[in-house]
Amino acid sequence: MKILVCGGAGYIGSHVVRALVEKGYEVVVLDNLSTGHEGAVSKKAVIEIGDIRDKAFLKQIFTVHQIDCVMHFCAHSLVGESMNEPLKYYHNNVYGTLCLLETMVGHGVKNFVFSSTAAIYGEPEESPITEESNKNPTNTYGETKLAVEKMLKWMDGAYELKSMTFRYFNAAGAHLSGEIGEDHNPETHLIPLILKTALGQRDQISIFGEDYPTPDGSCIRDYIHVMDIASAHILGMEKLLAGGKSSVYNLGDGKGFSVKEVIAKIKALSSKAFVVKVAKRRPGDPAKLIASSQKAQRELDWTPKHSDLDTIIKTAWKWHQNHPQGYNK
Ligand code: UFG
Repeated sequence: MKILVCGGAGYIGSHVVRALVEKGYEVVVLDNLSTGHEGAVSKKAVIEIGDIRDKAFLKQIFTVHQIDCVMHFCAHSLVGESMNEPLKYYHNNVYGTLCLLETMVGHGVKNFVFSSTAAIYGEPEESPITEESNKNPTNTYGETKLAVEKMLKWMDGAYELKSMTFRYFNAAGAHLSGEIGEDHNPETHLIPLILKTALGQRDQISIFGEDYPTPDGSCIRDYIHVMDIASAHILGMEKLLAGGKSSVYNLGDGKGFSVKEVIAKIKALSSKAFVVKVAKRRPGDPAKLIASSQKAQRELDWTPKHSDLDTIIKTAWKWHQNHPQGYNK
């Protein structure tokens, strides 16, 4: 079985590639390396460097390789940037995906695994959030992911192109080996920012708001280990390859931790002291996002194994300590 992983040099994609090769799948990674890192890609995978919007390049990939399933992680994913540069987001996330789907249909490839996000739900009206909860994205990033989800429904109807869509809550942690992990530039995510502060690479960590309607006033999120995200993708893909129907799943751990709780846990686990400041709210942040992942557990027999906060932080801390400059050292 040959799997094409688009965006396989990125944070989540590279962990999925590791999990695929560990299970014996043949993997081709397609990445334009705009945010991904060649060093993140397993040596057991073939890497093809190019852009999903380059149709000639796509055609060549699908002609050279006999692909059984496509996993699609290529996307711009910075919420703030998406509000200032919406066209950039529509171009890559929606038009790019359209080019990929068009090529798949042209080459008769009928299995698609799609990386979506909790950002499609916007400000939640219920907790935990289920796959059926209202979808009202409050930013362009979430809107572009929802646009693709809607496209996929029509692809199935017209071309029998089957898809598994995964809506991640807060992806975090690193491969247990400490060899690959999170390396964004700029980094905006809470856990890597705190760890970089603990390493002395930043002066302080800011808590964006302590006046939310939560027990300690800071925002609550559902952190899910990147290796658990990877295992769900493989289960979903295997279900598709066995003739399963298209479906959509939330991926979270079903437990919420506040910003203050995450900071306290990192202080305890790293034994490092660092400066914590309270800053004003970051625009667009919902107070609390917690997933119900019952559907994935029930239908895919998926169980998160590494998503307790201690394991998330310990694995991410190992990666950051081993690679203080990320992949560029
Ligand atoms: N936060 C801080 N200080 C920081 C950075 C973050 O207090 O320096 C807070 C944020 O305000 C938020 C929480 O930490 O309350 C988590 O923030 P992240 O930026 O790590 O993650 P988000 O919940 O904002 O975003 C994540 C994904 C997005 C996705 C979204 C879906 O990174 O891609 O979940 O809700 F869209």
